[in-house]
Amino acid sequence: MPSLAEARPAFQKALHAWYRVHHRRLPWRKSPSLYQTVVSEFMLQQTQVATVQPYFARWLRELPDFAALAAAPEAKVLKLWEGLGYYSRARNLHRLAKAFALLPAPPTRPEVWRELPGIGPYTAAAITSIAFGQPEACVDGNVVRILARLTGTKRLFRHSTEAARYFAPRAAALIEGADPGLHNQAMMELGATVCLRQKPRCLICPVARFCTARTTPHPGKFPRLMSKQVEKKLVNRVWCEHRGRLLLRRAHAKAQRLAGLHELPEAGDLGMAAHPTDVPVLVARKRRTITRFRITEAIYRYTPSPNLLACARRNSALEWVRIADLDRLALSGPHRRWVRELLAL
Ligand code: ADE
Repeated sequence: MPSLAEARPAFQKALHAWYRVHHRRLPWRKSPSLYQTVVSEFMLQQTQVATVQPYFARWLRELPDFAALAAAPEAKVLKLWEGLGYYSRARNLHRLAKAFALLPAPPTRPEVWRELPGIGPYTAAAITSIAFGQPEACVDGNVVRILARLTGTKRLFRHSTEAARYFAPRAAALIEGADPGLHNQAMMELGATVCLRQKPRCLICPVARFCTARTTPHPGKFPRLMSKQVEKKLVNRVWCEHRGRLLLRRAHAKAQRLAGLHELPEAGDLGMAAHPTDVPVLVARKRRTITRFRITEAIYRYTPSPNLLACARRNSALEWVRIADLDRLALSGPHRRWVRELLAL
């Protein structure tokens, strides 16, 4: 088999021809603008295409361009993002639009984009290649998987960042001479629809003849990554209603994941000394996984005792929110579900 560098023109030809015919007709690909590309790339960080689609459509209806986004209040931005998770993305997108309002024109070069809020190397490459034709290769889990399989690399990577670093020069070599936006999207598409993590669909792969893993008994075994250490966590949450209001905590504006969102408070937020009248009752137990943490959330109903009310007053992050107003606030996805479920009880 020729090396991937030697095979580049034939590889590109096969991949791009396949992409032109078989790519998913996604809303941000219809008549792409810089704004649509930026919004979709922010939404697609850590979120599946199927989840993003309805959010993207609603976002464009409500905030059709950078100027509308820059002028929008933060509460509206967070509300439109509600349920997508990783809310610092919404705040960074908002900051980006405000920064652009002060510039004569948005930057075009990837190294400038990498300095902007919420933009890592992948997003900078995706945006500048698609919107400005910059020859910058995207390297994410999809691309790493494709390159590891094409080359049949047996190397064991400690984590995905190490693998991305290893494959970056190979991805850069492969984009040479191509239409950069088309090539990056074709690689993303191949990873998302054909070169699947668990069961690669080698029989329909347009570049199977360039692939080393394909000739091994288990092509899905590439790339070789050390398994992540899973850590278990228990979080105790407080459910407390008082005079038609629910006690919530507003996450700190700088919080990585939840910036500016409301959640059920944790027991520690109340810092309550043991008090004989404050006997919490377990009302729900929820399990979820975030990155490498397997989290069990135990939600306890507290009565609004004088002791609890006093403790709640001492923490400025806690708010008594009218139950009738809950729909107007932005809550993280799981908390929205739990609140609906517990109010229905
Ligand atoms: N994942 C990240 N960027 C994407 C894009 N532009 N199209 C489809 N999936 C993506």
